[in-house]
Amino acid sequence: MRTTSSIFALALLTGSYAIPHGQLQNRLAGIQWADCPPELNAFDPHGRTFGCGTLEVPLDYTGEIPGTLKLDLLKVPAMKESKKGSILFNWGGPGGDGVFNMASASPIVQPMTGGEHDLISWDPRGTGETLAYNCYPNATDRAATVRWHHGQFANASEAALGRTWAEGKILADDCAETLKDIGSLVGTAFTVRDMFQIVDALGEDGKLRYWGFSYGTTLGATALAMFPDRIDRAILDGVQNPMQHYHTFGDPEMYTDSDETWQEFLKACMENPNACALAKHASSAGELGEKIDRLIDNLKEEPIPAGQSIFGYSEIKGLMIGKLYYPSQYSDLADQLEWMLTRNITAFSGLSGIEDPQTVAAATSPEALFGIRCSDKVPRTDNLELVRAELEGQIYRTSTIFGDTPTNTMTACAQWHFAAKERYSGDFRVKTSSPALIIGNTWDPVTPLKSARTISELFEGSALLQHNGHGHMTIAQPSTCTSKHIADYFLTGTLPQPGTICEPDTPLFHKKPKSS
Ligand SMILES: *[C@@H]1O[C@H](CO)[C@@H](O)[C@H](O)[C@H]1NC(C)=O
Ligand SMILES: *[C@@H]1O[C@H](CO)[C@@H](O)[C@H](O)[C@H]1NC(C)=O
Ligand SMILES: *[C@@H]1O[C@H](CO)[C@@H](O)[C@H](O)[C@H]1NC(C)=O
Repeated sequence: MRTTSSIFALALLTGSYAIPHGQLQNRLAGIQWADCPPELNAFDPHGRTFGCGTLEVPLDYTGEIPGTLKLDLLKVPAMKESKKGSILFNWGGPGGDGVFNMASASPIVQPMTGGEHDLISWDPRGTGETLAYNCYPNATDRAATVRWHHGQFANASEAALGRTWAEGKILADDCAETLKDIGSLVGTAFTVRDMFQIVDALGEDGKLRYWGFSYGTTLGATALAMFPDRIDRAILDGVQNPMQHYHTFGDPEMYTDSDETWQEFLKACMENPNACALAKHASSAGELGEKIDRLIDNLKEEPIPAGQSIFGYSEIKGLMIGKLYYPSQYSDLADQLEWMLTRNITAFSGLSGIEDPQTVAAATSPEALFGIRCSDKVPRTDNLELVRAELEGQIYRTSTIFGDTPTNTMTACAQWHFAAKERYSGDFRVKTSSPALIIGNTWDPVTPLKSARTISELFEGSALLQHNGHGHMTIAQPSTCTSKHIADYFLTGTLPQPGTICEPDTPLFHKKPKSS
């Protein structure tokens, strides 16, 4: 086992993962399945009832803290009788909930798997009801205390980085105080072990079948590196560079294709004037780009008051990168940017891109992203200049438009107090028992093709599939070709030929199906 820091290597030998497979089955109660409530079943186009289950797992795999933890699971039954085992899903974030996302995404992902597997997801520790990561006692208290989600991106002004740095310290201190009993139990390596507890409890072949999105690729890469002999199928879709996840302040590589994705948005806009409201404001993509650059500068100087919010520099950049995740929302993004260009304040009331602080404050585990990501990260400092050096020295250079969007997470994570009790500290040069399928989009604003290439080169025997589409992860712009490769892989283990590129089914700014 090429896992873990040496401190825990010994302790872990007495942990439950080391118990041979058969014995574990006897010791654990297994998954207790029941029917899911109607609001979850309602997502199923076939009127089926999903299985909702719980599984008890060790709270602390080092054995230092006794006790167990209940994981919440959801199972979507296979469409066909010839069951080929279960596929586990993680939807990213980190901090994304598993149960709800499994139910709501199943109409899209189940056909893509070929329909012969049960599909299972679970709320990873730190999310949902599972060691919920709430640094504040209630939503009112959070809204009153938390300033971090108003945090400005660093390039907003001379003062922005310093302020956000101070806000990051407040959040880190508050979480350290409130969550002192559980903070170090949340992190990716323990979640990997939880995942294999699920695999064991399913009582199938003891092997992992997995599809992870975005941060789910970091979880997946860590799982493959920790348990290379226990992999049957693994798809990493929208790949993060896991080395940077553990060893940098702000994952500079993530922004490799952000600017290019934005340029492609502008080009597609000019080519589709009927579906892109911005097109009439310029005669070329270059001119339109300059107009939006000026708009961003203008909002820095003179932000727009909208309801209870102020829409300025950081908000427009947040909106832009957020919408670049979803090509189906490109027309909406164009509408909204036009409202800003014309400072049409009436139209703003319908702007869904404005994050309502109350909604954030009321989310179930609003600090989970920080809790998981920050506790995984090795570098820490109380010296802002070190963070500034990575941010301005590396990330600004990677993306001249979106390079300051990670300011909030970087400043909080650098000053975080918890370290995950176990962190995977090995490398990712791995030969798994079955090869993995690595998928990257050509124009993904946050998980570039470069990271998919890197991981595919490290995982021996794995194949890289290039999804020649826009947005974050393959499901953002569907492709029959990509879906077929995914189904072939899950059903038969067949990997695409080297150099395979799949085209999306519908072009950008395609009006139907209407985005939500
Ligand atoms: C929220 O928590 C604070 C601090 O514990 C408490 O004083 C306050 O009454 C709580 N508010 C609500 C609405 O529960
Ligand atoms: C502002 O936006 C609203 C709603 O989209 C639209 O009906 C109205 O015509 C716009 N006003 C101007 C001056 O463009
Ligand atoms: C920061 O601001 C400068 C000056 O406006 C600009 O040239 C640069 O592209 C900006 N970088 C980012 C990442 O916002």
